[in-house]
Formats: sequence, structure tokens, C-alpha cells
Amino acid sequence: MAAAPPVYRCQELVKRRAGGGTTFELLVPELRIAPGEVVVLRGPSGCGKSTLLDMLALALRPDQAKGFSFRPEQRDATDLWRLWAHSDLDGLGQLRGRHIGYVLQTGGLLSFLTARENIALSCRLLGYDARGLVEQLAERLDISAQLDKRPGQLSVGERQRVAIARALAHRPVVVLADEPTASVDPLNAKRILDLFLELVRQSGTCAIIASHDWQPEPTPGVRILDHRIERDGNITRSLFWG
Ligand SMILES: Nc1ncnc2c1ncn2[C@@H]1O[C@H](COP(=O)(O)OP(=O)(O)OP(=O)(O)O)[C@@H](O)[C@H]1O
Ligand SMILES: [Mg+2]
Repeated sequence: MAAAPPVYRCQELVKRRAGGGTTFELLVPELRIAPGEVVVLRGPSGCGKSTLLDMLALALRPDQAKGFSFRPEQRDATDLWRLWAHSDLDGLGQLRGRHIGYVLQTGGLLSFLTARENIALSCRLLGYDARGLVEQLAERLDISAQLDKRPGQLSVGERQRVAIARALAHRPVVVLADEPTASVDPLNAKRILDLFLELVRQSGTCAIIASHDWQPEPTPGVRILDHRIERDGNITRSLFWG
């Protein structure tokens, strides 16, 4: 049986970031991510994990790409590089809003909304009925008692679980998670991560997780992308592929 067409396909995708006399270059020679796959971007701090996630979230413009496409549904892939080249921010925003959930490294919850309102936000923007769904996700993530609090009244781990619920509530095809268990003690980090993996597997969502300290042992069903750093004069080049 032929492999399912990838959700993402990147070929020679490049993003450069300069500052302080040095240049960081992220290079993705070739990357394919299949529907429902769970993928980890593992590498040290500063190696470009958030940069790559931001490009996969359609939130950061690449500098170069031979190919960069997204196929969230059973139809032709969308040429993201073309959308960026035409500065079609509406088109990119619509794809992002409908098909992508993002657990940001910094949390990203809106401080003036309650946990319940934060979780329901993407559904509200898309006109989906979130009734029942918020409670269901909250129960799975053990934050039912916290739903009427604002983010400032929650513990760090509770905030991270609210951010996970928010990224999953509109049933996206892809969920991107940037260090989703950072700043939580190791025991809670493992609990939150196991829950997150269980939820994405049950919903068949494709997940791409950035982690600087992902466990060295293989996790069944999780693919760790290959990564290498090269130095070239004052350019630090970080490569991810797979
Ligand atoms: N806006 C920016 N301008 C210039 N350089 C930047 C910018 N954002 C990030 N960088 C640089 O790009 C490189 C990659 O940063 P990035 O945030 O992607 O790393 P990371 O792997 O997510 O690190 P961490 O594990 O600490 O979150 C770093 O060298 C960083 O200093
Ligand atoms: Mg980061």
C-alpha cells in the first residue's frame, strides 16, 4: 500500500537570523510528516526548534524554500511558499486557524479570559459549538476545577494543561507543542506529556513537539527527527531532517 501523502513536505527550507555579528541558519534539507504522526524536534537550546515550529505554524516566513507544502485535508497540497511569496497572510491565517493548534513555549494564554474561555477561543472564532468539549478536555487533563480562573490564578502546570486543551479543542489536523512541559517538575512533566500523547493518539492528530531534553530511550510511536549542527565561519547552521 502506498504511504499516505504527507501533511507537511519541506525541501531545502531555510530561515536565517542575524544579530550581534553572528548568523544562525536553520536548514531543513528534506522533511515529510505523515498524517497522525508524532514527531519530536530534539536539540539543545538555540538550535532552532521554535524557529522551525513557527514556520510549520505558518507564523514565520521562510527565507528560501525549494518546496514547502501543507496538506491538511484529502485534496491537493497547498503551496505555502507561494502563499508567503504573495504575502497572502489571510490565506495563511485561515489555514492556521482551522487546521493547526499551537502550544506556545511561553504559554500564550490570554490573561483577561478564564481558562474555559481560553480553551473555547479557537472554536468560537471558527463558529464551532464548544459546549461539552471544553468540559471533556478539562476532565481528561484534570483541570475541571480550574475552568473559571484566569491564567494568573493557575499554577504553571495547570496553565500548561489549559494551553494543551486550547490547542486541541478545535480538533486540528496538526498540533505543534513547544516544550509543552517546560517549567514543571519532572514527575508532572511526564504526566502532562503522557496525557498529551494519549489525547493526540486518540484523536489521530499529527503532533510535532519541540524538546531540548526528550528522553534518550525510544518512545513507541514517536519519531525523533535527525539533527546536526555545522559551523561555517560566523554562521551556525542547524539542520533538521527526516
Ligand atoms: N528574532 C530573532 N532575531 C535574531 N535571532 C533570533 C531571533 N529569534 C531567535 N533567534 C536566534 O535563532 C536561534 C534559534 O532560536 P530558537 O528560539 O529557534 O531556538 P530553540 O531551539 O527553540 O531554543 P530553546 O530550546 O532555548 O527554546 C538562536 O540562536 C536565537 O538566538
Ligand atoms: Mg524554543
